[in-house]
Amino acid sequence: MHVAIIMDGNGRWATQKRLPRTYGHRVGVSRVEECIREAPDAGIKTLTFYAFSTENWKRPQPEIEALFALLRFHVNKKAWDLRNANVKVSFIGSRKRLSSGLLRSMEFLENLTAGCSGLNLNVAIDYGGRDEIIKMARDAAEQVILNQINITDITEVFFDKISQLSNCGAPDLIIRTGGGQRISNFLIWHLAYAELAFVDTLWPDFSPKCLLDEVKKFRIKDRKYGGLEVSKVSQVK
Ligand code: IPE
Ligand code: IPE
Ligand code: MG
Repeated sequence: MHVAIIMDGNGRWATQKRLPRTYGHRVGVSRVEECIREAPDAGIKTLTFYAFSTENWKRPQPEIEALFALLRFHVNKKAWDLRNANVKVSFIGSRKRLSSGLLRSMEFLENLTAGCSGLNLNVAIDYGGRDEIIKMARDAAEQVILNQINITDITEVFFDKISQLSNCGAPDLIIRTGGGQRISNFLIWHLAYAELAFVDTLWPDFSPKCLLDEVKKFRIKDRKYGGLEVSKVSQVK
């Protein structure tokens, strides 16, 4: 089972407590760690977190800097713990605008955990679903120009293969915390048949129990993919 999470509500959580927004982001990281720990027992094979969107560059510079400092700190600090926990980490999104220091840390973590098989963990940084689709279209066009493929080879399966989730497949369940009922440019190619769960809980309050509750609710759903036959959600790997 692949669960993707739009972690929203850090800023409001902190503001409610009269604390700086970045404090909410810091507490939010602990919830990420708990979800990673809980995931294998919950039957989750792949967990994808939306950490920074292509639109989040619109935020004030100090908040952007605090978010990236936090990311880099945890990527460095947790590298060996993740490897020891058998978690394979991949980063999705565009790497072009990231600092060389963060990039080095990300690449180190990806290489360190490349052979792990307990849980696939994707972290979306400078990720936008539209950006991903444009890149896939350009990639396809280039392959046609170079005579590597024909136009008719450009199919849904082809896009799946060149997408950033090619190794783990589309999410079965997308959870958004923080009360909003929108996708905010997350995984828009991949979510065609994902189940969507919108929860009011702000991300820093999202406990492993909340994750388990959503997984349980997902498992009793009927998924028919446009057909009439119910595919057994409880058997989703
Ligand atoms: C989500 O929390 C975290 C990121 C976008 C990085 P927000 O920072 O969006 O928190 P709210 O929505 O303002 O409460
Ligand atoms: C979505 O949250 C992005 C991430 C969680 C990284 P936002 O707070 O950026 O989304 P909007 O602006 O409310 O749609
Ligand atoms: Mg938000």
